[in-house]
Parts: sequence; structure tokens; C-alpha cells
Amino acid sequence: MGNQVMPREQLGICAEGNLHSVYLMFNAIDGVEKQLRPSIANVAQYIYELTDQYADSAFNGFVGIGANFWDTFYPQARPALLKPFPSMNEGNRDAPAMEYDLFVHIRCDRYDILHLVANEINQMFEDLVELVDEERGFRFMDSRDLTGFVDGTENPKGRHRQEVALVGSEDAEFTSGSYVHVQKYKHNLSKWHRLPLKKQEDIYGRTKVDDIEYASDDKPLTSHTKRVNLKDDQGNSLEILRQSMPYGSVKEQGLVFISVCRTPEHFEKMLHSMVHGDAHGNHDHLMLFTKALTGSSFFVPSLDFLTQFDD
Ligand code: HEM
Repeated sequence: MGNQVMPREQLGICAEGNLHSVYLMFNAIDGVEKQLRPSIANVAQYIYELTDQYADSAFNGFVGIGANFWDTFYPQARPALLKPFPSMNEGNRDAPAMEYDLFVHIRCDRYDILHLVANEINQMFEDLVELVDEERGFRFMDSRDLTGFVDGTENPKGRHRQEVALVGSEDAEFTSGSYVHVQKYKHNLSKWHRLPLKKQEDIYGRTKVDDIEYASDDKPLTSHTKRVNLKDDQGNSLEILRQSMPYGSVKEQGLVFISVCRTPEHFEKMLHSMVHGDAHGNHDHLMLFTKALTGSSFFVPSLDFLTQFDD
């Protein structure tokens, strides 16, 4: 890379897992774009600084710009592959689109800090946006989804997280940014808990307690890990970095699924494989037990890209 200086990424993109998260979805109020741009830069800068200040509690976060809002936000140029959420549907499997203008994602191992910061950010955006959705995520047991299976085991590790998640030199103006997809999945846990253990394990292609992967030949074609483990024509794995966390209350609970990646194509192909299945109609049986309520597409530019607007 020589002595070229890379733009600084927003630190929540590649951060390791936390105990708590807050997800804020905002829509911009019409006609305020001029004031909103510096506010977005200020919020991203604020989150970046808090990462140092609250390093002991592993604070991190990022601000994403909605695919449909991008051209209003920054008409001069667009990340090469940015497009709206690829909604799809087949049978009872629905992956609807629900777009938002801005996504603020903050995480920390202290809930009180997150609550304070979420309020502060909301204040910084006052009169410029409307808060249209808010969820709070939490770590469940040893990083398990609420279905009881460890989630995140096969995620990229170490510096490979950056390689998977961040745009490189292929799109020079947007280097160190990331394509982000968010889907809020509501689980049907009473239906899930009625399934015998072996059937649950077959649905993931992994064991439950010990989190051991099935041998490839033992994985049903309808298992989640079979459906999302995809390769390109050269045999390279299509990878994403998942930053999902369980959310909710007794009334409604599930997973806020979050994919971050240097290209939106990997997520789209995986989702297609889950919903539409393979040529023989083998779709993802996990979707019989959970329902996507939302689907949103964002680009998370580097901090340096955003702070060019901070005056
Ligand atoms: C793997 C849960 C949705 C992509 C896994 C694993 C679990 C899990 C428990 C196995 C452990 C691991 O490697 O992390 C869920 C749940 C979902 C969901 C509960 C929704 C309710 C999705 C979606 C995608 C996806 C929408 C992408 C479109 C992946 C990938 C892996 C994975 C790439 C790793 C597969 C491997 O390499 O073995 N998921 N997932 N997941 N999931 Fe999901």
C-alpha cells in the first residue's frame, strides 16, 4: 500500500461483539439537507471520539446513509454498487424492503452509556429528522441467537474482517466505507421450541450445545449454513461480516440481522439462496420459524468522507 494514507473507517463496522446495542432509524425532514450534512458529520465524529473515551466499555458505532437518501445527501457521487434493499418473496418466505434515510448503530458493554449517547445523538439531530424506529439489542448467553444456537462462529476474524467489510481501492472516493443491510427478524419461538433438538440442529447444520459444524455431506440442503455458504465461479467463498444481535421483549423478539461488506452482492446472493433456494427448490428452513419485518440498505462512508461537511 506504500505510504498512501487510508481514510479512517467508522469503527463500529469491524468491531468485535458487545453486550448491548441501540439501533436508531431516522428519516430526514424535507428541505433540511443543508443543515443535516454537517450534523451527520458531527454525530459520526462524536461516536468516533467516544470509542476512545469509553474504550474500557468497548464503545463503538457508525452512521449509515440510506440507499434512497444518498442522492439527496450527496448528489455529486454515489458508491458504485449502492442500491435499495433487494426485497424478495416466494411461498411463505418474505424479505420485504423498508428503507430509512439514516441508521445510527451504537454498541457498548455498558447499557447506561448507550442510553445517554442515544439521547445525545437524538438531540444533535433535533428538528432535522424524525426517529421512526428504535430497537435495543443484547448479548444472549454465550453469543447465541434466541433460538439457542451460537451466532457468529464462522464470521471473519482478525484483520480479515477489514478485508471482507471495507471498500478498497476499487471505488476510490468511497474507500473504507461499507455496504450495510439490516433486517429485523421476529422469531416464532413457541413453534421453534416444539421442534426436537435433532430437527433444530438439522436446520442450522450445526450442533446446539457445542456449536460443532456438521460434515458437509450431513448438512441438509435446506439447512441455513448450507444455503448461505456460497462460492463464486473461481471457487472462492462469498463472505460477509455479520454484526447481528438478539432484540426485543416478551411480546416481540428475534434478531436484528446486520451484514457489513465491501460489496452488497454477497448478501443479496445469500438472501436469494435462503428465500428461493437452489434449482431443486431447497430453501432455508430457518425461515419457517422467523419472519423478516424490515429490510434496509445503507452505505456507511468513511469518517473522513463525512467530515468534509462538518462546517
Ligand atoms: C451462520 C443464525 C439470517 C448469513 C449462522 C449461524 C447461525 C445463524 C446460528 C451458525 C453459526 C455462525 O457461523 O454464525 C441466523 C439467524 C438469522 C440469520 C437466527 C435470522 C433470523 C441470516 C441471513 C444471512 C445469513 C439473512 C445472509 C443473507 C449467514 C452466514 C453464516 C451464517 C454467511 C455462516 C455460514 C458458514 O460459513 O457456515 N446464522 N442467521 N444469516 N449466517 Fe445466519
